[in-house]
Amino acid sequence: MSDNVFTGRSLTVIEDFSIEERRYFFKKVYELKNAILSDDRKTMDEFRINDPDFGIYEVFLEDSTRTKESFRNAAKFHHAKVSELICSSSSINKGESYADTFNMLSGYDNAIFIVRSKVEGLCRYLDEQSRAYQQRNNLKLKRAFINAGDGKHEHPTQELLDEFTFLEDNNMDFSSLHVALVGDLYHGRTVHSKADGLKVFDNVKVDLIAPAELAMPDSYVEKMKENGFEVRIFPSIEEYLKADDIADKWYFTRPQLERMGERILQKQDELRKSITFRREFMPLLKEGTKFYHPLPRHKEHPTIPTFLDNTPLNAWERQAINGMYCRMVLLSLIAGKIGSDYTGKVKTDEESALRQEEYIVSVDLSDRPAGGKVKNYSEGVHPIDNGIVIDHICKGDSPSEIREHMRLISSVLGVDEGRGGEWISRGADGSFKGIIFRPGEYNLSRKDLKRLAAVAPHCTLNIIKDGKVIEKFRTHMPPRIYNFDDLCCANEACISHPSQGEGVSSMFIRTQDGHYACAYCGRFHTYKEIWKRGGRN
Ligand code: NCD
Repeated sequence: MSDNVFTGRSLTVIEDFSIEERRYFFKKVYELKNAILSDDRKTMDEFRINDPDFGIYEVFLEDSTRTKESFRNAAKFHHAKVSELICSSSSINKGESYADTFNMLSGYDNAIFIVRSKVEGLCRYLDEQSRAYQQRNNLKLKRAFINAGDGKHEHPTQELLDEFTFLEDNNMDFSSLHVALVGDLYHGRTVHSKADGLKVFDNVKVDLIAPAELAMPDSYVEKMKENGFEVRIFPSIEEYLKADDIADKWYFTRPQLERMGERILQKQDELRKSITFRREFMPLLKEGTKFYHPLPRHKEHPTIPTFLDNTPLNAWERQAINGMYCRMVLLSLIAGKIGSDYTGKVKTDEESALRQEEYIVSVDLSDRPAGGKVKNYSEGVHPIDNGIVIDHICKGDSPSEIREHMRLISSVLGVDEGRGGEWISRGADGSFKGIIFRPGEYNLSRKDLKRLAAVAPHCTLNIIKDGKVIEKFRTHMPPRIYNFDDLCCANEACISHPSQGEGVSSMFIRTQDGHYACAYCGRFHTYKEIWKRGGRN
């Protein structure tokens, strides 16, 4: 069982499983679904955990019907120990931390937790911190955390069942997908998971249909484009139907009124109209079109009206049923019951390649003429005999942006109390850049250099002794930024935000387009936005 890469794995976001792992998963779901539908007991038993002591715990801190009940039914299929935390009467309401609550439950011999919460990134944090608890208490099995929806962030198991249903309608062919995502694309975590989820298809076209108030956040649109999807944006179904090349798969979502502010709620009728399907649209649909919905739909204002239930458009009922099959297979994989024959790529392989990248590069000064004096950099600043000069700051930004960022750099590096100054100069190409001069004794450690690269990538650091540049470093954007007390995710709903009071230290991961995504909630930041205001102070 130990060589099964799925055993004890958490699914906190859809990307926690590689594309190959997900494709393997879908193959298994197909097998199990067929076995169940044909009452093939032998195959069903190959998937069953079949252990009354194997603990699966449901912890739902937000309302749910389908996700919770399909998981419960899936867990019962496995003849396992299935429990549920009654959150309204638990110590979470007495101010207990999530870490303490979940650690305790895992101590009671439970291996898999299914968690829904408003707090974004909670499962990832639980996965990280449970390892130490496990060691302290000699627990053998690694605990796994399955994200059953976290705030507006992700809903990876919904993503798996959505994709499985698309695949069924594609004859299990991964070569292409054209899908329209309709509705509340701003609050809907199921559509957010699609930005990475749909990568399992080779060629992806996504049409986003939502009024501006409910539009897909830019970071997800950006991610879709980076992932090579062709993306089009429309404000309403009506407008979409005027376009060429309409999708044959429409994925509807409901307006999530419970997450909206007063300002948007006032416009709800108008917003709903733009994302609700109407009878008059029927003739404009492509032949063979299917409609999907993560459900629930609103009984008075469904975005897929009930007159469509009994038409071939209806794929949403089969989709919801598929939820149970997908969750059965997921539990089976994480329990290590199936999956030992998997030989493809594992998600963690990609991560370790990223960690090894060098982002502080020492510049070879040996072939430079003696000197390299600081006055070469300066414009009217007294030359420095001993000290540091940070050059090329925010090259290309406006002077006021550069000035503001130089204040942040000084504060983050803890050099704001020193002598010296800041300077903005203009290069031959007309662009501005900032320079920080600090005469004095500075012994920068490796950690200081890491802080410098994190707050001032694309700069040079010059170390000056006796009027000479004795060392010079070029900084690049670090692949990860973590382990500094003064980092802070800007999303208040994120588990790592100080207002959550859980004491989680922030971590950011560089994105392809040069942003930093919070490792917990995925929120995009620029490298300037990841610091608590005022840096170290
Ligand atoms: C969705 C959810 O909770 O994110 N429902 C679900 O899990 N099937 C969508 C919703 O609430 O609208």
